[in-house]
Amino acid sequence: MILGLETSCDETAAALVTEDGEIRSNVVASQADLHARFGGVVPEVASRRHLELISPVIRGALDEAGASLDDVDRIAVTSGPGLIGALLVGLSAAKALAWARRLPLVPVDHLHGHVASLYLQPTDLEPPFLCLLASGGHTLLLDVRDRSGYAVLGRTLDDAAGEAFDKGARLLGLGYPGGAQIDRLARQGDPEAFAFPVARVPGLDFSFSGVKTALLYTVRDLGEEAESRRADLAASYQHAIVRALAQRTLAAVRQTGHDRIAVVGGVAANSELRAALQGASLAPLELCTDNAAMIASAGRYREPLAYPRYLGLDAYAASP
Ligand code: KG4
Ligand code: ZN
Repeated sequence: MILGLETSCDETAAALVTEDGEIRSNVVASQADLHARFGGVVPEVASRRHLELISPVIRGALDEAGASLDDVDRIAVTSGPGLIGALLVGLSAAKALAWARRLPLVPVDHLHGHVASLYLQPTDLEPPFLCLLASGGHTLLLDVRDRSGYAVLGRTLDDAAGEAFDKGARLLGLGYPGGAQIDRLARQGDPEAFAFPVARVPGLDFSFSGVKTALLYTVRDLGEEAESRRADLAASYQHAIVRALAQRTLAAVRQTGHDRIAVVGGVAANSELRAALQGASLAPLELCTDNAAMIASAGRYREPLAYPRYLGLDAYAASP
């Protein structure tokens, strides 16, 4: 069994996954409530909370699987990209456990982890496919040819799609994280009520800072009326983001000739996006948002490092 650990942002997570991609346990302790009053993740607060949670979360994952450390053959841990202080908590815990038990350790890239959520049962998707990765921290189009990695076709030039949802939710006075709340409110609104722009950037890249500014100005111009138009604002805003994601994804399909699309990351939960990309492969919702089962899954397809080589591993904030 593989023990996966994930602490790149505001979720402390541990999971046990078999070599066949069966999830034996998947424990996620979200810190969202802790960061809600700041309207976003505060890195130093996140690191401290990870430190408090990491041991009980690992113990929880072992208990839930009815396993002990004796049953673990390998440890997989997110080494980046993410918040450095947060990543170091998971990485240090993984090193300590691997060292104490003389286990091999696999460093996993968080983005590869998101893609590898598709390789877990029951989804068990086999490449090749085109993958849209849309989360709070990332928005990428990936050409996936095998399970060990991918090629990047396009990425956001500014905000991530989930970040755009979260910032929009904040402008509309909704809570954090706001993607799911915009999704809910949008169902009662008219997506054509306001014409928010979809950025025209070259190639297969994305840009979401313009639509966010457009929402800001519209809310400001509406003044007191904004409150009663919130559902229309949410629906139109979501429509612009989803249109941008779907258009670029379909353009990438035409360019690469892939006949299958997969969507991963927290924004994959969005109902309008799911409808726009009908037929796309999706992992179960609990595997779309940050978790450690996807990290353990990715750890199946990378060479593990033997003791003592992994002791020199470092975390990285941004993808190389
Ligand atoms: O993958 P994830 O858990 O964390 C990162 O790695 O960033 O994604 C979280 C993001 C948040 O920005 C959240 O607002 C967004 O996913 N999200 C949604 C929905 N549910 C979560 N965005 C749009 N519609 C949703 N239903
Ligand atoms: Zn993520």
